[in-house]
Amino acid sequence: MRISVVGCGYLGAVHAASLVELGHEVVGVDVDARKIADLRAGRAPFYEPEFAELLTHSVASGRLTFTTDIAAARDCTVHFICVGTPQKHGEYAADLRFVQDAAESLLGVLEPGDVVVGKSTVPVGTAAGLAAMVSEKAPGVRLAWNPEFLREGFAVRDTLHPDRLVYGVPDADGGVVEETLDEVYAPIVARGIPKVVTDYATAEMVKTAANSFLATKISFINAMAELCEATGADVKQLADAIGYDDRIGRKFLNAGLGFGGGCLPKDIRAFMARAGELGADQALTFLREVDNINMRRRIRMVELAREVCDGSLLGKRVAVLGAAFKPDSDDIRDSPALNVAAQLQLQGAVVRVTDPAAIENSRRQWPQLDYADSAEEAAERADAVLVLTEWKQYRALDPVAFGQVVAQKRVLDGRNALSRKAWTEAGWTYRALGRRAS
Ligand code: UGA
Repeated sequence: MRISVVGCGYLGAVHAASLVELGHEVVGVDVDARKIADLRAGRAPFYEPEFAELLTHSVASGRLTFTTDIAAARDCTVHFICVGTPQKHGEYAADLRFVQDAAESLLGVLEPGDVVVGKSTVPVGTAAGLAAMVSEKAPGVRLAWNPEFLREGFAVRDTLHPDRLVYGVPDADGGVVEETLDEVYAPIVARGIPKVVTDYATAEMVKTAANSFLATKISFINAMAELCEATGADVKQLADAIGYDDRIGRKFLNAGLGFGGGCLPKDIRAFMARAGELGADQALTFLREVDNINMRRRIRMVELAREVCDGSLLGKRVAVLGAAFKPDSDDIRDSPALNVAAQLQLQGAVVRVTDPAAIENSRRQWPQLDYADSAEEAAERADAVLVLTEWKQYRALDPVAFGQVVAQKRVLDGRNALSRKAWTEAGWTYRALGRRAS
């Protein structure tokens, strides 16, 4: 099939290259000329494991092209919308401008029989509105909503090996749309991956409900961490013990600094805003608390840093290991690590931040912070070391050797990712959220 992908960010670029892997010819379209130039040259504009190889390979095959000109999508029969839906400034709601622009730009190239497939995370009701616009302005063109569940850091794997496919299809001609999507995902469908074919509203809600559940699970364990701090209990053991119950499960029960990134925070807020518009805001008031618990963890981390620095951050040298919102990503959108680093600096600490992949992005957003190329450089003569993103490089640090670099052996494990035993045995004061001091 010839397929266009409009929007070439984390989602779109990975999706475009993965579609080539599934056997299609793909044109990626984006308004950002710099990004397109990079992609065209086979250069990944962001860090994502396995993506660089997939991109190089797909571009070299001649079956993946990139352009800023939507006209190149003219001979495609399926058109994916993969643009961002960021939070509106000063509001909880999602900004749908890019989705609207993408759909309108496609109107000039659509032919009867084409299918437009939305992948962006949108408030429920968006697809029905777009479907009405498309059927009025491009008769014979159908719309589907096909949410994406990829995680950054595993984007390629999640795209090529999803755990489910969700198709939101129109009431009329739903079968035709389903067949088209089955053709797009043929190798995945052939593996018998669970598939849910439903209406637009359910498909849209599957995505926001899934992200809300994940956020709730993280905030649940972080609320337990607050209680553990008050009682002297240990949140890590608590999570292990409740996680053995397979109705609960251990995944997404890692207590620590909480969730950030370009998805969970803005998605739960957009969901609350949409519920309000629909007159169902009470159903989601708990998400406000989920958000509050999450943000409190960042404040607590700063307090803990002050505590270990003998009650004052003024002039203290603090090393922050990790800037990305999670490991294996250079994404710093709403990064808890950078948020804490900035608060520490504002409160008078001398902060040096390091990250294996996100320094360039961080420097652009927080030029006032000081950056180092390695954990050792960041921690030179430090009064405290904060591990805020659990990159494997930091989990693997040797506390004995690392202890030679710092001024004071104090480590704050913001992700409960280090071995408390190994660090305390090497003479470090070890502190973590939701766990007793040792
Ligand atoms: C999330 C969802 O997991 C994906 O399924 C979804 O497709 C994606 O959003 C999206 O909407 O596009 P992602 O934002 O890449 O994926 O990252 P997650 O792995 O969900 O992690 C989110 C945040 O939660 C990170 O800051 C991570 O450090 C934190 N987290 C995760 C915890 O604090 N504790 C945990 O136990 C797990």
